[in-house]
Amino acid sequence: MFPPRSYNNFSKGSTRRARSRQAHFRLAIVSRSGNNPFVEIHEWNKRYRLREHETSDFESPPTPLLVETIAPLAPGSALDLACGAGRNALWLAEHGWQVTAVDGSSVAIETLRDRAAERNLPIAAVVADLEKHEFEIERDRWDLIAICYYLQPNLFEPAKRGVKPGGILIAIVHITEPGQAQTRHSLRPGELEAFFKGWEILHRHEGIPTDKPHRRPVAELVARRPPLSIWPT
Ligand SMILES: C[S@@+](CC[C@H](N)C(=O)[O-])C[C@H]1O[C@@H](n2cnc3c(N)ncnc32)[C@H](O)[C@@H]1O
Repeated sequence: MFPPRSYNNFSKGSTRRARSRQAHFRLAIVSRSGNNPFVEIHEWNKRYRLREHETSDFESPPTPLLVETIAPLAPGSALDLACGAGRNALWLAEHGWQVTAVDGSSVAIETLRDRAAERNLPIAAVVADLEKHEFEIERDRWDLIAICYYLQPNLFEPAKRGVKPGGILIAIVHITEPGQAQTRHSLRPGELEAFFKGWEILHRHEGIPTDKPHRRPVAELVARRPPLSIWPT
């Protein structure tokens, strides 16, 4: 066993260091707890810049749910929100969709622009912090909006309004497991679908995703916007 530490034995320097460590720790908690999106984006930038998750961030194929959903559809306009390095945006553009892709990470967007240029794909890639509402989602504008592995509950309403009548929204978010505490990065089971009351649910799944880079339980939803006449905005 370690002998108990006597705080009286701390020198002034070590007290200062301890205080600074405490302050740093408090700062980390504040920024993780949800009111400081800048820090989060800063962390995403670091992750992408250092290629900390090379395989999942840069080499993974498009999400199977998106591929399966889109396969039978004629190409149209698509908005990929929180697109990361663009696996889904690239796939959509390769299949004839006119794609706008948005992410808060400038590194992710630079990477996507490079990847699109290499393949000669015309993707509009935009750096915007969605939590700060830096990207305005035009109403009735998109045949498809995808929000994959990004949770910002107050984004669902503007995203829904952005889908054309008859258009489709795909959402994938992490959900809490039994006994797990709620975090700002996850919804409870059943919660995602509640955002889409009045929409036609084309696909719902809660559990382990079929998407290789992701192993934690998710809620997946594909919903079609009904005609304007029966969906008040
Ligand atoms: C798990 S990745 C998902 C990437 C992509 N949708 C996919 O399925 O591969 C989450 C993305 O959300 C972005 N992000 C986090 N906070 C954001 C914010 N406030 N505004 C815009 N993008 C944000 C990150 O930069 C990151 O690229």
